[in-house]
Amino acid sequence: MQIAFAASEATPFAKTGGLADVVGALPRELVKLGHQVTVFLPFYARARRFIQGDPKYAIGSLTIPFRYYNRFAGVVDAGLREGVQHYFIDCPELFDRKDLYGPGGAEYTDNAERFGLFCRAVVEATKQLGVPSVFHVHDWQAALIPAYLKTVYAADPDLRSASTVLTIHNAAYQGAFPPNTTEQLLFPWDVFTMDKMEQYDRFNFLKGGIVFSDVLTTVSKKYAEEIQTPEFGEQLDGALLKRAADLRGILNGVDYALWDPAIDGHLAAHYTPKDLEGKRACRADLLHAFGLENVAETTPVIGIVSRFARQKGFDILAEITEEIADRDVALVALGTHDPYYENLFRAWAFRHPANIAVQIRYDEALAHKVEAGSDMFLMPSRYEPCGLNQIYSLKYGTVPIVRATGGLEDTIEEWDARKGTGTGFKFAGYDPMDLLAEIDRALEAFQNRKAWERLMRNGMARDHSWRGPAKEYVRVYEEAARRK
Ligand code: ADP
Ligand code: GLC
Repeated sequence: MQIAFAASEATPFAKTGGLADVVGALPRELVKLGHQVTVFLPFYARARRFIQGDPKYAIGSLTIPFRYYNRFAGVVDAGLREGVQHYFIDCPELFDRKDLYGPGGAEYTDNAERFGLFCRAVVEATKQLGVPSVFHVHDWQAALIPAYLKTVYAADPDLRSASTVLTIHNAAYQGAFPPNTTEQLLFPWDVFTMDKMEQYDRFNFLKGGIVFSDVLTTVSKKYAEEIQTPEFGEQLDGALLKRAADLRGILNGVDYALWDPAIDGHLAAHYTPKDLEGKRACRADLLHAFGLENVAETTPVIGIVSRFARQKGFDILAEITEEIADRDVALVALGTHDPYYENLFRAWAFRHPANIAVQIRYDEALAHKVEAGSDMFLMPSRYEPCGLNQIYSLKYGTVPIVRATGGLEDTIEEWDARKGTGTGFKFAGYDPMDLLAEIDRALEAFQNRKAWERLMRNGMARDHSWRGPAKEYVRVYEEAARRK
């Protein structure tokens, strides 16, 4: 099958979160299964760094019409990477910027135009480079592709055979803009209705994808259920309920070429389930990186790596910071995004320099060090479509403490000391006391070294490679193609 991915992030070119990990890894796995995959990304300033010399253009100029003017986009041929063909949509005035979406957690004011152009340019590009059997589009930034195909391009003979799959990585980010976006992006006004793309008087990109895609997926079974309810649906639960029969939950995999303590190039030492010794060196290296050299050998270290956003649940952590700091535990946090949470962590570390430390930045290498050097990994998310860090933690023998929601619920099994089964610690209520009780359970379990190693190894033995999920996606593509 020919599959064209369209997304706003993919490793190694551009990443703010797990979306990039998924779009970086899944296409390669599909290629291994014998499929032909192309990936379309915007040509951001940071993606340029991956092109040696002058970019090579597969298409010199596409004309992308807007209401009162045209824009022109080139298509950069970034070549094959492990069998996956990459193309960048080049429109410097929209994409050649420092950030992907906006400065410091804010949004650029022209994001509707940026990602509107991206979607239309991908459609136009495939008409010259080869129309795929399936467009696999990700999140709101690519969600207009199915909407364009079913409206503005509905009569195009070249595109008639292409089907569409939308994967929702996060229903809270929808790309909602003023009504006249409809006209600016040259959609007919009849899409601006409640049963199509209008949502509370806004033109809603994600809703367009939900309404017009052949098949919908999201990144865990639990989240697929959750988003059909008012609590998690972010007001799209109605639209999603209508498509319930076409909505699948497929749990994300992990790229073990990048996330495996036996080979991870960012670590001070390597280790395996059979020989855990190297994890001690990783722990010392981590504590050094956070300036916590004086933490005792017997004191457990809790790690956090997070896009500091409301989703991640740090409001309940904020209420028990002093209780945690009083316990025999060290905590290291790596994160950036919302200044409110950045300051929360900064202030916490400032009050307790002996055992709480934070680094406010995006740092790939340090993220790996936190996974390897910590004893426990904390994700108290308010909601979590899949979550990748807890799955990385399993592989690194770093025991997850998570809230039972979305992918966290689906990937972590509560530790049962009596039976010696389970992979982590899981609490249900979005409540500081529930969180504290669960942390205490983990700290207590840590005291029994033998049982703890069992718990570590249970997690390390879990297989979350992409092979299984990739096959599930192929079935979804076949299903989408049949609908045509
Ligand atoms: P989300 O996509 O909601 O942010 P995920 O758990 O799916 O959550 O993925 C987050 C990804 O981003 C992981 O690969 C994680 O290691 C990475 N990440 C998040 N924050 C940082 C940071 N400050 N520095 C480096 N990597 C980070
Ligand atoms: C989103 C979600 C996260 C998920 C990631 C990749 O960013 O917040 O839970 O793991 O997408 O699918």
